[in-house]
Amino acid sequence: MAQSGRYGPGRTWWDAGQGGYLPWDESYENPDGQVTVVNKRGSVQTKDHPFFEPLGTNGRACVTCHQPANAMSISAALLRQRWIETGGRDPVFAAIDGSDCPDRPQNLAASHSLLIEKGLVRIALPWPPRNRPEFRIEVIDDPAGCNTSAVYGLRAQHPFISVYRRPRVAANLDQIIAGPEGVRFMTDGREATLESQATSAIQIHEQAKMAPTTEQLRRIVEFETQLFAAQGSDVRGGLLDEPGGPLMLGPANLASGKAGGLAAAPDRMSLQFDPWRKPDGAPDLGLQLEFRASVARGSDLFFGRRFQYRGETVTCAVCHAAGITRWMDIGTTAAAAAKDRTGLPVFRITCDASAQPHPVFGRVVYTHDPGRALISGKCAEVGSIVLGQIRGLAARAPYFSSGSAPTLADLIEFYDRRFAIGYTAREKQDLENFLRVL
Ligand code: HEC
Ligand code: HEC
Repeated sequence: MAQSGRYGPGRTWWDAGQGGYLPWDESYENPDGQVTVVNKRGSVQTKDHPFFEPLGTNGRACVTCHQPANAMSISAALLRQRWIETGGRDPVFAAIDGSDCPDRPQNLAASHSLLIEKGLVRIALPWPPRNRPEFRIEVIDDPAGCNTSAVYGLRAQHPFISVYRRPRVAANLDQIIAGPEGVRFMTDGREATLESQATSAIQIHEQAKMAPTTEQLRRIVEFETQLFAAQGSDVRGGLLDEPGGPLMLGPANLASGKAGGLAAAPDRMSLQFDPWRKPDGAPDLGLQLEFRASVARGSDLFFGRRFQYRGETVTCAVCHAAGITRWMDIGTTAAAAAKDRTGLPVFRITCDASAQPHPVFGRVVYTHDPGRALISGKCAEVGSIVLGQIRGLAARAPYFSSGSAPTLADLIEFYDRRFAIGYTAREKQDLENFLRVL
């Protein structure tokens, strides 16, 4: 692994304030191939750039948690490696939200377990929310100790609920902004604009004492909306945006707008994969062509395979249309859902008799992240999550906002069981191959 701060191929970790250019197009290794990050407006000088320079008091910048090598999110694997390389002294591990709770002994890896093991950052939300909540909240289990902490918890003088969430992708954002619905950022939709999001991030994650200037905000948003990240090549499938290939793949197609939204026209989307299809009965075509044929079959499943979600017939693509920023609960936040939820808090939510109940759980809900309800105060929205992007997945495991799916295979397993889809082993593999090239 390259030293931090070194410029050139192989550099993985991007340090706050290291300086140098983020090239117009750069690729970073991941287990499935390479993720490519494209600056549509050309290389970016990062020295004195507010996305790359620490603006607060803890040495972090935006790039600390939104790393180019991880498609502008951050993987648990990179965090683990960083812990070892720096003995836990990198600013990413700052007590405020880079540890399970700021009152834990900060020199111990065990006090940063959620970040190191699952890539989860502590998000402290004030209780009660500004909108009068229709429910009571109790802490049922609190392994990290923050929700029961005398200083940071629900009983503190200024009460907070701590939830633990994956950093979201800070790229491809122009598509989200162009979306048809009211734009909402963050897992719970609490930020309405990228400017307000950046202001909060500077004051909370970077612990700045002063608000950013208008010029700093302008430069951050300008940077984020010209930046595109997607898997660029696959170890089996080769270059993903070769001419004549599927237009929805590869960062160049994203940057030029050719990729379009993932579900703009589902039937047409699958047609893009025709050049990669394998005729029935054709002999073994070799690794690259067989892999591409599998991706093409996976695209049929993603855009075409129907299943039931709360009485509606849906496909994967129906929900994952680019630009859709509404919130919903597919069961990932329920206390029993996480395959491995060791370390996550469990809350019991008891709704008022007059409240519109939760569509699945009624008026008593056990959850490790109440999601949108912590902002709206609505019982029916307990556990609802704002859909994130599904680009650059191979670069940024684990998945779901609580990191509950360690791999894409686990994620597919979750959908298969939850919605009784009934994928065959080959279909699971095809869908996984499709997801890993996004
Ligand atoms: C300590 C790590 C950390 C730092 C530093 C950080 N972020 Fe984030 N970022 C996160 C986490 C975690 C989330 C998701 C939070 C949530 O959903 O509640 C997030 C979400 C976002 C999103 C939302 C994307 C979406 O689709 O909703 C954007 C944009 C973003 N960050 C940009 C920034 C910018 C700009 C900065 C610097 C001013 C920054 N971040 C600093 C961890 C960080
Ligand atoms: C009813 C809407 C809906 C359908 C249908 C749906 N998803 Fe999702 N998907 C979501 C929501 C909501 C999330 C966020 C959940 C969370 O973070 O806890 C999500 C998250 C994901 C993620 C993780 C993104 C990340 O950054 O961690 C992937 C990958 C994904 N879905 C793929 C699929 C696939 C494949 C299918 C089809 C089998 C599918 N989805 C069907 C709503 C849906």
